[in-house]
Amino acid sequence: MKFPDGFLWGTATAAHQVEGGNINCDGWLLEHLPDTRFTEPSADACDHYHRYGEDIALLAQLGFNAYRFSIEWARIEPEDGEFSLAALDHYRRMLAACHEHGITPMVTMHHFTSPRWLMARGGWEAPETAQRFARYCERSVRHLGDLIASACTLNELNLVAAFQSTGRAPSDEQIVRLPMRTEAARAMGIEPEKFGSYPWCVRSTSRDVLLEAHRLGAAALRSGPARFPVGMTVALSDMQAAPGGEANRDRARRHAQDVFLEAARGDEFVGVQTYTRDRFGPHGTLPLEPGVEVTQMGYEFMPRALEATIRYAHAKAQVPVIVTENGIATEDDTRRVAFIEQALAGVARCIRDGIDVRGYLYWSMLDNFEWLFGYRPKFGLIAVDRQTQQRIVKPSAEWLGRIARANEI
Ligand code: BGC
Repeated sequence: MKFPDGFLWGTATAAHQVEGGNINCDGWLLEHLPDTRFTEPSADACDHYHRYGEDIALLAQLGFNAYRFSIEWARIEPEDGEFSLAALDHYRRMLAACHEHGITPMVTMHHFTSPRWLMARGGWEAPETAQRFARYCERSVRHLGDLIASACTLNELNLVAAFQSTGRAPSDEQIVRLPMRTEAARAMGIEPEKFGSYPWCVRSTSRDVLLEAHRLGAAALRSGPARFPVGMTVALSDMQAAPGGEANRDRARRHAQDVFLEAARGDEFVGVQTYTRDRFGPHGTLPLEPGVEVTQMGYEFMPRALEATIRYAHAKAQVPVIVTENGIATEDDTRRVAFIEQALAGVARCIRDGIDVRGYLYWSMLDNFEWLFGYRPKFGLIAVDRQTQQRIVKPSAEWLGRIARANEI
């Protein structure tokens, strides 16, 4: 099947996971606490902050035409209201590098990490954070807008809700008492309840702040001078019901997916980010069935989940879809190829059925810092030697690059 002209074929990354030395953000602080839940610190990550030029050139050489990356609020606004022209210029150079290589840049304004100073002001549990986020968007777009092809406001603003509803994250009550959260607040000399770090914030308080941040941030991005499509990205597992599990599944969907997808109505697109499925029974989420293939993240190998979530997101949000993340953590690159191949067949079926899917951005370009799990999970199409930072192209990168170039599967 031929994909539509202009279909975006690319990869995605996030600043904190690849740049290295992101010391002014809350994530860095959390990684270095004595009671940290992170297995290792992000450190130099993939040194993408300095090596973006060769990485973008490599993407183009492989055959890709798009790259989604995030810009780092903690660098651009290192103190409340103080903007760094040097940091903005850095991202301008990155955007320019994309254009030089024929790569369409999609920018994410916030991908999980926030400036430390924001935590002293209540983080994502404080209503004023929405306005502060919009101010950062407005300042950034004034400097970068003419080079941006499309933008995502917040990455997975439903993440806490999604993980809580599938038992992958602590409950609101447990989050408040997390030793890591209390310690981080102490290290900053602030009240423990202030440290509303995303995604360690209390869902019931942060949900409206995040939705408002999306609304105000999107308006700031659309306020010009440049014009480009703006949307949010949503973490979507394919939520399925086993017999008797319908009510539980529907409840989980309602609060982890629908509320957010409905808020995407009126945007220019919605970013679908899918890794697996979750099954619900009469008593809640069901464990994995014996013998199923499991990825390095402990997720069921389920590439078909992408098709189901594209259809679901499109029905709820009623706007065009971009697959802003889809991927697998595995040491076995042949399983990566199998995963992407089956996922893409689902994308093709959606397009054939008339759903406006505009791109597929594989997570991730590089083997990078996988948050709590450190550098062990391998999501990348390109490996990174942790001693030398040398890039090693995997067969899956060449395979997907060929599909991208041909624009067909
Ligand atoms: C996030 C990425 C993360 C990926 C794999 C997504 O939820 O946006 O930052 O690395 O999943 O776990």
